Amino acid sequence: MTNYFEKLKLLSTKAYAPYSNFHVSAICLLADGTEVKGVNIENAAYSVTICAERTCLAQVYTLGYQKKDIIKFFLYTDSNQQGSPCGTCRQFLWELLGHDVPIEIYNQKGDSYVTTMQDLLPYGFTKEDLE
Ligand code: THU
Repeated sequence: MTNYFEKLKLLSTKAYAPYSNFHVSAICLLADGTEVKGVNIENAAYSVTICAERTCLAQVYTLGYQKKDIIKFFLYTDSNQQGSPCGTCRQFLWELLGHDVPIEIYNQKGDSYVTTMQDLLPYGFTKEDLE
């Protein structure tokens, strides 16, 4: 069985985080077995930074996959606490990841919990709200 904690920890070393030194990694597991990866990429203009969740999902779509192809989302943060996606990523994921797809989140110690977008962003904003 795949050890996603070790995989994510190794992947997090690829993060470009010279300002926060906080490394984050994400892996999307697709129905065909493909694993699509992402890390956080920071910038001297801090607000330009892209979180790992968004680099990962952007890559999923770039490769021609879509929401329906994603069966699980894994996340790792350098935190000692229970890690959690930021608000911007929650909104991004709300649109591009199935609301019941399991999201398994690991911290630095290897502790993990499983959640879903339904739990992370109840009453999330969607395109229907634009009507
Ligand atoms: N970060 C993520 O990659 N994902 C999140 O959900 C929270 C924050 C990154 C952004 C920045 O590079 C660093 O963590 C500190 O905020």
